[in-house]
Amino acid sequence: MSDYPLGTDPLELERLGFQHQVWSPVTNAFFERLGVKPGMRVLDLGCGPGFVSLELAERVGPKGSVVALDEARHWTEWLREKAKERGFSNVTTVCARIQDADLPAASFDVVFSRWVFSFLSDPSAVATMLARCLKPGGALAIQDYNHEGVSIFPESEGFRAAVRATRALYKLHGGDQFVMGRISSIFATAGLELAELHPNVLAGGPESGAFRWADSFFPRFSAVYVEKGLMSAAERGQFLREWEERKQNPHALFYSPMVVDAVGRKRA
Ligand SMILES: C[S@@+](CC[C@H](N)C(=O)[O-])C[C@H]1O[C@@H](n2cnc3c(N)ncnc32)[C@H](O)[C@@H]1O
Repeated sequence: MSDYPLGTDPLELERLGFQHQVWSPVTNAFFERLGVKPGMRVLDLGCGPGFVSLELAERVGPKGSVVALDEARHWTEWLREKAKERGFSNVTTVCARIQDADLPAASFDVVFSRWVFSFLSDPSAVATMLARCLKPGGALAIQDYNHEGVSIFPESEGFRAAVRATRALYKLHGGDQFVMGRISSIFATAGLELAELHPNVLAGGPESGAFRWADSFFPRFSAVYVEKGLMSAAERGQFLREWEERKQNPHALFYSPMVVDAVGRKRA
């Protein structure tokens, strides 16, 4: 099985929008370090509804351009409408599976991809293909998981079961939430030089963005875990009870998994 497991329904749109709000300072800091600037040509790979694509469009300005690619037509059409509404003429959408996309060689300054590589069954093959699309000196900039560190306090056995099931769901669909543990060899296979490796963690109490981000994911997808046999109904019951208790506890703390920024640079 290798189809994308998180869907495109209205709840997922809302979750991705909130996720973007919580993590955009981290993503924008990455763009600052990377030096994304006016006039650049950027590919946003696996753009989803395109929250990042629109911010990139603003950064590269009218002399630059953004190609936003996703396999879900629902998202590329949604983004096309949003870009039109907001008057961005420098955004092009492409609906394609990245493995089958026909992208021009040596044409992008930056290929950016957030939370997509962890869904790929052969990330080295995709990185190799993307390396061909980069201009000399261009950057493949990936933001994705090393899924260590994700935790809640007071500790919760139910939450640990939900985390195990999340990792198993990605695996079941051919992905790997620890993909950033392999990024050095993925870049090497693609002929790229590892130029940056920068881990990020968000954390906070029940009112924080980090906690509410987790709250928009684990309880909802725990139903899917049971449906797919990755968690028992009893484990889910325990998880939901313990999660609710921690949401009501002003001293509870959630730590996100590590989200790693990595840059693979093509030789100039
Ligand atoms: C978790 S969402 C992240 C969306 C966006 N990058 C963001 O950060 O908000 C992952 C996206 O990757 C897309 N995707 C996953 N595998 C893909 C593939 N092989 N080719 C193209 N898009 C893919 C999905 O359709 C989904 O929109």
